[in-house]
Amino acid sequence: MTGGHYLKLKNITMTNTTTNMELISTHPVKKSDLGFHGNLFGGKLLAWVDAAGAAFASQVCDSPRMVTVLIDECVFKKPAKEGHLLKIYGDVKSIGTTSVTLAIEARSHNVYDGRQAIILGTNIKFVRIDEQGEAIPISQRVKLKYNIDI
Ligand SMILES: CC(C)(COP(=O)(O)OP(=O)(O)OC[C@H]1O[C@@H](n2cnc3c(N)ncnc32)[C@H](O)[C@@H]1OP(=O)(O)O)[C@@H](O)C(=O)NCCC(=O)NCCS
Repeated sequence: MTGGHYLKLKNITMTNTTTNMELISTHPVKKSDLGFHGNLFGGKLLAWVDAAGAAFASQVCDSPRMVTVLIDECVFKKPAKEGHLLKIYGDVKSIGTTSVTLAIEARSHNVYDGRQAIILGTNIKFVRIDEQGEAIPISQRVKLKYNIDI
């Protein structure tokens, strides 16, 4: 272990993370994904996180039309390097009338020993829209599924 941000999955020892998060996408970090100094480019990571979150929000809300309305503060805690696996995890934080807020973590995954380092953690709010782009309510079925009072 080289610090509190590392997680060891094999014996389920996890620190500084939400343990019940679901894996929602995986990206091998390629040379073309790097920015200056050989680190994964921040804008690329944000695009992956937004796309993975939108797909997860669609799955959670039983709707193909979910748009990003808010991304919370993003702190890039550690660099990801070429050859790392970048894994994105999500969890439902809350469901409003027309929106769902997801907790999202991007972790760099070491394929040799399963250790993970948190690269970025944030919350993203997605709104369900209709074909005209207007906000519409999340269904009661979804709220019941996630134990939200209706
Ligand atoms: C998302 C969008 C449809 C919301 O429209 P709107 O007229 O603000 O709708 P509402 O005021 O009814 O708000 C809808 C939801 O968004 C939330 N919201 C709106 N503005 C917000 C803000 N600045 N911060 C946090 N939440 C906000 C509201 O809280 C509401 O959630 P709730 O119903 O669960 O309480 C509209 O802002 C939009 O189209 N934005 C562009 C989306 C986009 O293109 N994203 C990038 C690509 S996916």
